[in-house]
Amino acid sequence: MALVTTTEMFKKAYEGGYAIGAFNVNNMEIVQAITEAAGELNSPVILQVSAGARKYANPTYLKKLVEAAVIENPNIPIALHLDHGADFEICKACIDSGFTSVMIDGSHHSFEENIELTKKVVEYAHARGVVVEAELGRLAGIEDDVNVSAEDSSYTQPSEVQEFVERTGVDSLAIAIGTSHGAFKFKPGTDPQLRFDILEEIEKRIPGFPIVLHGASSVPQEYVKIINTNGGALKDAIGIPEEQLRQAARSAVCKINIDSDLRLGLTAGVREVLNNHPDYFDPRQYLTVARANVKAVVAHKIKNVLGSEGKAADFE
Ligand code: G3H
Ligand code: 13P
Ligand code: ZN
Repeated sequence: MALVTTTEMFKKAYEGGYAIGAFNVNNMEIVQAITEAAGELNSPVILQVSAGARKYANPTYLKKLVEAAVIENPNIPIALHLDHGADFEICKACIDSGFTSVMIDGSHHSFEENIELTKKVVEYAHARGVVVEAELGRLAGIEDDVNVSAEDSSYTQPSEVQEFVERTGVDSLAIAIGTSHGAFKFKPGTDPQLRFDILEEIEKRIPGFPIVLHGASSVPQEYVKIINTNGGALKDAIGIPEEQLRQAARSAVCKINIDSDLRLGLTAGVREVLNNHPDYFDPRQYLTVARANVKAVVAHKIKNVLGSEGKAADFE
């Protein structure tokens, strides 16, 4: 199967009460881990690339790694998506280089400016067969160099979604209902609770329309513990409870973004191996374990959070 857009993925996920995992890729090991897990579990998957990933790995290398993964996993649909595109230019560059989906993140602009920017990207993308995700509302947390404090974050207003979707022609919408980027999502002692009431209200206003959740890592405590017992210092790392994400995946939420949990698995592997074997200096020794951890994280998500195991069989 060649790279696909997310159109069919989201239609099937909406109807089937599951979600597609969108995992961030930054290097070969991460691309391999995600697609091997998805391939073995016969699950559709989205590989997403941030501006930071492009800067770190070079867009050409990332594209070629993804192409290799498509060749190695011919039985599953794979989409290549730009994560948090900040302006028209980066979206255009990705569309021109073969991405099948882009996000234009105008969430920090005014409602009208967000509409104008999103519309411009949609026009360019749709003319080339590429789909677009936009965002309304602001998540707390850190992405690339933008740090949104909890005070500056704001839930998506259901009253705005229908007008936004109609005027922009966008294909999916990221909303803010209490998720947050990074590994430190909540203060210790707080009870993480997604606002399902807002989600339901949004669903009523735009029935059948695919919703996206960013900042959906759960911050597995077993990896935080391995990191901290092997020289790390991650204090109060807390994520979104997986049962709440599973509940979201059964609803209009068709795409769930996960990056931090992959980073935690990878870092736990590197730290554990190097701490136990101070004499190791061959990167393959620690990256093999790190990659296996990332693969285990993705497999766990597909089976227990997303509900997308076996769903690749429904695609042509
Ligand atoms: O939403 C943020 C993603 O985790 C990407 O992070 O911008 O550091 O690559 P990054
Ligand atoms: P996490 O930091 O919760 O993994 O979120 C990733 C994300 O939203 C990428 O766009
Ligand atoms: Zn995000």
